[in-house]
Amino acid sequence: MQVPRRRRRLAIAGVAVAALAATGLTFASANQALAEEGCKVDYKVVSSWGSGFQANVTITAQEPINGWDLTWTFPSGTSVSSAWNVGYSQSGTTFTGSDVGWNGSIASGQSREVFGFIGSGSSATPTNFRINGDLCNGTTQPPTSEEPPTSEDPGNPGGGDKVDNPYTGAQVYVNPQWSDRAAAEPGGDAIANEPTGVWLDQTSAIYGNGSPTTGTMGLEDHLDEALAQGADVIQVVIYNLPGRDCAALASNGQLGATEIGRYKSEYIDPIVDIMGQSKYADLKIVNVIEIDSLPNLVTNVTPRATATANCDTMKANGNYVNGVSYATAELGALPNTYNYIDAGHHGWIGWGDVNPQYDNFNAAAALFGSLIGQNGMTADDVHGFISNTANYSVLEEPYWAVNQVVGGQALNQNPNLPWVDWNDFNNEKDFTEAFREVLIDEGFNEDIGMLIDTSRNGWGGDYRPTGASTSTNPVTFVDESRIDQRFQKGNWCNQAGAGLGERPQADPEAWIDAYVWIKPPGESDGASEEIPNSEGKGFDQMCDPDYGGNIRNGNNPSGARDDMPLSGHWSSEQFAELLENAYPPIN
Ligand code: BGC
Repeated sequence: MQVPRRRRRLAIAGVAVAALAATGLTFASANQALAEEGCKVDYKVVSSWGSGFQANVTITAQEPINGWDLTWTFPSGTSVSSAWNVGYSQSGTTFTGSDVGWNGSIASGQSREVFGFIGSGSSATPTNFRINGDLCNGTTQPPTSEEPPTSEDPGNPGGGDKVDNPYTGAQVYVNPQWSDRAAAEPGGDAIANEPTGVWLDQTSAIYGNGSPTTGTMGLEDHLDEALAQGADVIQVVIYNLPGRDCAALASNGQLGATEIGRYKSEYIDPIVDIMGQSKYADLKIVNVIEIDSLPNLVTNVTPRATATANCDTMKANGNYVNGVSYATAELGALPNTYNYIDAGHHGWIGWGDVNPQYDNFNAAAALFGSLIGQNGMTADDVHGFISNTANYSVLEEPYWAVNQVVGGQALNQNPNLPWVDWNDFNNEKDFTEAFREVLIDEGFNEDIGMLIDTSRNGWGGDYRPTGASTSTNPVTFVDESRIDQRFQKGNWCNQAGAGLGERPQADPEAWIDAYVWIKPPGESDGASEEIPNSEGKGFDQMCDPDYGGNIRNGNNPSGARDDMPLSGHWSSEQFAELLENAYPPIN
């Protein structure tokens, strides 16, 4: 079923017209035709708050434009603090921006939203717009989102007790942007009404940046739409740490390793302001906090052989710990938010104290525990943890137990069994149940609950075994019995053969608050080959189907699908395979 989409109507508000008049320049109104010659620039302030604002810039070409340099004069005291899809500089009040290649061409008569930025200072319209030196007409449109709380908005009333499990009996928000894409695919209607995560994967996504990844809806649009749907819960992914994705390249982010100040003031603080508005007091906001970040500090740092230079940097500078504790504390202080911190998955953190040098399990719990007290974060700010986000690890292996004796030896004690390799677990259910206990030992509340991302861990289809192998050879036995078809559990990118997992549902087990679809099925984990882009995304060989692997996946083939776009971008082919191999199957 399609979810109705509610859009704000854009109108020329009196205030914007007044702002135009105040500039003293001859601007076109939004309805005015193009000037006889030249060009037109729409400078649209989409959101503004105390000290800053976001604006999106659209160029309309009269003659074909092949590459643009755009200049304007800001009101004094105004500057750009970050921008996307543009190379820019500022000298005094003069801003200069240039295309980044793919957005350089604009056909005659075409309007193209070319870039956006976060500014500080005045959101009044600049003057003196010029494209490639020619003076242009310019317009403004009114903000499409309201301001975060001011002294007139009391914000959330506060004091409301958080419920034990926000998912119990709840209607969960369906992201219309994902839903539309899913519904447009053959057979997609069957799942297009499932709730999926809203990823704030860069600062501009808060305001709706029009990127293929996050679309045009900003956080406030999603929250408003959740109210319109009558949803009880919305799931938001907080994903923009400095030096993000330190052991891989496909989801590298926009903030450099040291930019913790910007993470706090330009990313977390505005999110808190928006979520804190009184109109959302009755909406439960689940925040999934910073995928893969802290687990990387356990396994991918010196002296481990799996160390990467970037993870060593992030461990040494403390900015993952600083950022996660800050986000959790600030978001947790709101009365209607439910924070679940990302905890990797069993194929990453599931190695216990068999060998203390490789104890990921207790070391990860201790690292999470060390957050308590930092940046004012308390145990009460944490509602639980989430495993398997955007990953492929199974909920359970129905045909074998990890400590089962085969060929005279327990599988998890067998030195020659690469699939298990001494891991204490072979599935997410057992892992989350046990990990929750050690997290409580580390100081988290006894009523924390776990989430598991089941969006792509179904592993149905033709290769799914239907019973246990009869082999007495442990390697053969496991390979013939396991439903997880990966070459190795370290494989994380666009796994060929994967299917949708359990549909989202509340309370599947006593310790599990919900099965959730945080990774929206059909969105890529990374490009199969290098694709130049302006999203900060790198090329990771783990997404190349021909790659033979590295130490982090035991030098196994990557198992990735071919022809995949940048992470977050849509793949009809992957979506079709996920449907095909769904387990439970799609009727
Ligand atoms: C990407 C994000 C995207 C998310 C959801 C991540 O791998 O880096 O840009 O929003 O997946 O698809």
